[in-house]
Amino acid sequence: MKEKLEQLKCEALAAIEKSDSAAALEEIRIKYLGKKGELTAILKSMGSLSAEERPVVGQMANEVRGAIDAALSEKSTVMEKAAQEAKLAAEAIDVTLPSKKAKIGALHPLNKVLDDMLDIFQSMGFDVVDGPEVETDHYCFEQLNVPADHPARDMQDTFYLTDSLLLRTQTSAAQARTMEKTQPPIRMVCPGRVFRADEVDATHSPVFHQIEGLVVDKGITMCDLKGVLEQFAHEIYGPETKVKFRPSFFPFTEPSVEVDVTCSECGGKGCRVCKGAGWIEILGAGMVHPNVLKNCGIDPEEYTGFAFGIGLDRLTTTRYKISDIRLLFENDKRFLDQF
Ligand code: DAH
Repeated sequence: MKEKLEQLKCEALAAIEKSDSAAALEEIRIKYLGKKGELTAILKSMGSLSAEERPVVGQMANEVRGAIDAALSEKSTVMEKAAQEAKLAAEAIDVTLPSKKAKIGALHPLNKVLDDMLDIFQSMGFDVVDGPEVETDHYCFEQLNVPADHPARDMQDTFYLTDSLLLRTQTSAAQARTMEKTQPPIRMVCPGRVFRADEVDATHSPVFHQIEGLVVDKGITMCDLKGVLEQFAHEIYGPETKVKFRPSFFPFTEPSVEVDVTCSECGGKGCRVCKGAGWIEILGAGMVHPNVLKNCGIDPEEYTGFAFGIGLDRLTTTRYKISDIRLLFENDKRFLDQF
């Protein structure tokens, strides 16, 4: 019986050694150690042994069971580890491979120019403020010295939403809001979209962009206006640019001016970009009308100010030689990718 046990052990260990799957191992376990297994069968037949032999064979049978058990679990650990390693190897990522190129967006040309402009004004100490696109008649016109029947309203074809609500036609509305809220000194710019019922063509769009500027303090004069706007024009277009102040009219300023700069393309000789004029108009400005100061709760005897409104779209199309303003609004990626 001892030989039988020894042989059984050898067989089982050899089978375990050769096995290559968890299922095969389980089969071996059942075959040798299961209820109907071979070792169990030997143990069952121990009744025929003598009283001296029984404990000896019993101990040996236990040792054989222990050895098979140990071999089974060792083999199963080895197999699990191998499976794990194979899995890791299969899933390995080569971090040295080049990655897919990430598509990164870019600033819209309008935003590029706007960023430059805000940089310039911020470096001169201006705050940047925001205003609503849906505006009241009160802030867009009334407070700015443009009463209901004033002919100046015809200058700007307004989209009215109700009798008193409209899409702002000018960022100047932000002037009135700022002055109502803040006592001087005031130095602010307000960039944003404005809306007018204009036909769409290469140079007109019912949506366009302005930057409003306002300075109010004691002793502000036309010299300050000229100095700030000349400085601005030189920083945007280069120091060789000439700046021209033409008398003009706006209800909210007195006196009023329009500002032209020499065409950055031809330097003033006349070309396609400036339509032969040599000059490009970039903004309207003036000394804040005393009525406007009064309307907004600022004493015009004590304070004076200047204001300006710059068209962002024209500045952008001339800087980048964009021939049609509509390109700025179509968001065609092929166009935008060029900037
Ligand atoms: N709001 C004017 C426009 O849309 C531009 C303008 C002119 C703004 C003179 C001003 C200003 O602040 O003082 O045509």
